[in-house]
Amino acid sequence: MNRKDEHVELAEAFYHERQTDHYDAIKFVHHSFPTVNQADVSLATSFAGLDFSTPFFINGMTGGSEKTYKINQDLATVARETGLAMASGSVSAGIKHPETAPSFEIIRQTNPNGKVFANLGPEHPLENYLRAVDILKADALQIHVNAPQELVMPEGERVFETWLNNIEKTVQSVGVPVIVKEVGFGMSRQTIMKLQQAGVQTIDVSGNGGTNFLKIENARREHQEFAFAEDWGQSTAISLLEGSTLTNSVELIASGGIRNPYDIVKSLALGAKAAGLSGHFLHLVLNEGVEATIAEVERWKNSIQTMMTLLSAKSVADLTASDVILMDPLKTWCEARQIN
Ligand code: FNR
Repeated sequence: MNRKDEHVELAEAFYHERQTDHYDAIKFVHHSFPTVNQADVSLATSFAGLDFSTPFFINGMTGGSEKTYKINQDLATVARETGLAMASGSVSAGIKHPETAPSFEIIRQTNPNGKVFANLGPEHPLENYLRAVDILKADALQIHVNAPQELVMPEGERVFETWLNNIEKTVQSVGVPVIVKEVGFGMSRQTIMKLQQAGVQTIDVSGNGGTNFLKIENARREHQEFAFAEDWGQSTAISLLEGSTLTNSVELIASGGIRNPYDIVKSLALGAKAAGLSGHFLHLVLNEGVEATIAEVERWKNSIQTMMTLLSAKSVADLTASDVILMDPLKTWCEARQIN
């Protein structure tokens, strides 16, 4: 089976095994007198130099096959009807095999005026990034870093020392904002600082707890690598805490295991500019269809507005002033890493 189709199939097969309980360890202190009215709450946010009406989006997933053409078309329809931004999956396939480019182009064709991000790994020459942006007429470029996934794939990358340099050069030359993202293994403070030094302004920490690419890659082969360490990486909540002292100078995005509007609001309170969801949107379009997914997105917007009212936050930025209590395991992690 085509690798992209297999990723979709396995992500969906493991959907109910997601373990995002770290979000449950974030508690808000309830105060009985909200100081804002619900109608005055704005969901608007901005990152990567772009403005968005909603603080969550459809994160990078797929493209590169007939089946994923339809998935991208469905996701792009949801994005168009709800105003959500949407990222494609890695456009590598569309560049190497131009006959598959339509499965990416369909995103822009379906949603001509929406915010669209192209996606590619960190090892490409500049012309490939330019091509990826052009295929999607993208507003921004996501570069994904996925060392654990590459190492588990027999055909995967084995040379990593060039990645950061290549990212730095691309940021300078590609002509659109660059978002560097993990793919479900999270980030450390050191990683975020390295990216910042390389000139990256916007970083999607994409932590573990949701779609698990070690599990997915292991399921694709008989001889499993690393199966004993499928919990590798930091959760999204921990990754946001790792970056929390840097949010004055860098924009963080939360993704990885976001389950509901509550997780989104918690992410924003920890300093994220927005939250990205992949596995959940895939699950919705595959199982519920486009119309039901659109309805769910609209309910989520409403729920976020309700929670922001309860937290007396007129804006996404106001949420960072919320009274947040961190329970274990987050508390112990913060103590060990001297995060306060
Ligand atoms: C992904 N993800 C991903 N990320 C990326 O940067 N490029 C890619 O091509 C893909 N491909 C891909 C395929 C499928 C089927 C899924 C479900 C996911 C990773 C994705 O963007 C995200 O980082 C992780 O999935 C964690 O978020 P969720 O799924 O837990 O919300």
